[in-house]
Amino acid sequence: KFWNVNEQHIDHTNEHILEAASLLKKQEVVAFPTETVYGLGADATSEAAVERIFAAKGRPADNPLIVHLANKEQIKEVVEEIPEVAHPLIERFLPGPLTLIFKSNGSCARNVTAGLPTVAVRIPDHPVAKALLEACQLPLAAPSANRSGRPSPTSAQHVYKDLHGRVAGIVDGGTTGVGLESTVLDCTGEVPVILRPGGVTKQDLEAVIGEVEVDGALDNNEQGQPKSPGMKYTHYAPEAPLWLIEGNLSFFQHQIDEQRRNGNRVGVIASQEHASSLSADQVQTCGSRQDLRQVAEQLYHSLRVFDPEKIDVILCETFPKEGMGEAVMNRLAKAATQKISQP
Ligand code: TXA
Ligand code: MG
Repeated sequence: KFWNVNEQHIDHTNEHILEAASLLKKQEVVAFPTETVYGLGADATSEAAVERIFAAKGRPADNPLIVHLANKEQIKEVVEEIPEVAHPLIERFLPGPLTLIFKSNGSCARNVTAGLPTVAVRIPDHPVAKALLEACQLPLAAPSANRSGRPSPTSAQHVYKDLHGRVAGIVDGGTTGVGLESTVLDCTGEVPVILRPGGVTKQDLEAVIGEVEVDGALDNNEQGQPKSPGMKYTHYAPEAPLWLIEGNLSFFQHQIDEQRRNGNRVGVIASQEHASSLSADQVQTCGSRQDLRQVAEQLYHSLRVFDPEKIDVILCETFPKEGMGEAVMNRLAKAATQKISQP
């Protein structure tokens, strides 16, 4: 089922929302928009419902899911305790693109947390997600609504392409705002640790609670065991191989030309500042280098644009790892098969 709630004023009494909620109550899986990316939701208290998420996505069973809640009061119902440090974060950033990891009280199904003693919770800030959570009165386990390994969906069309026929329904609420997933913050230790950079930046967090750490395994895929199990898999990958090009414009153009001399059709993802200076078979702009939030918003769409085209390799520029650039480069590094730097 495909419901379009895009143009409507939405709340939990909307007929499409009620229909989607009734499927969720029957242990079905339904995709819905959040302010970050589309999620694939199921009743977090039902092992059978959650199993359907893993099956639809082809997701490895050892990768735990985020539990989505309608409001702050519900956090207490799934965690053992809320540590002191988390209170100002909840106050300041929720609802919003921040996922917090606490000790679980065991009330969610075992496969939600993949057997871990902790649980990830998030309160999405999107009218459709809110309406659905209120209508079904359930905590919803929801990973991004893509096939495992693919870029996360920022539109209902992306979800449809990856999952149609594999889910009970898709709620179309238009394109998502943030464009990259929530920041995952582990609050179970002395100092909170960022396990995945995302919609709320390190600077945003530090402005509220002082020092936060970054999981050491984030930047090197090979060494160290990432604490967030999901970070160890190939992720966000378009169909054609993606190469990151780090260097000036003439170095970038040289890489394009070399590929084309080898008979490859080349797609390019570049900022609006650089796009018009580059010549390739197809050039996709992804926002301005002056506004990395714009780049974040457009990134997953840009990665999917070449899928239906006959493109052999995608070359993409790199961005400064500042503010949202941290999350942008984290996703690009995971999506890319290699990086070529100007000597
Ligand atoms: O913005 C988002 O967070 C989106 C929307 C749909 O809410 N959801 C999302 O879910 O990105 P997913 O499943 O694609 O990513 C969840 C991440 C994974 O890296 C997973 O390993 C980590 O959160 N995670 C979940 N529970 C965890 C836990 N108990 N301990 C450590 N990491 C956990
Ligand atoms: Mg995901």
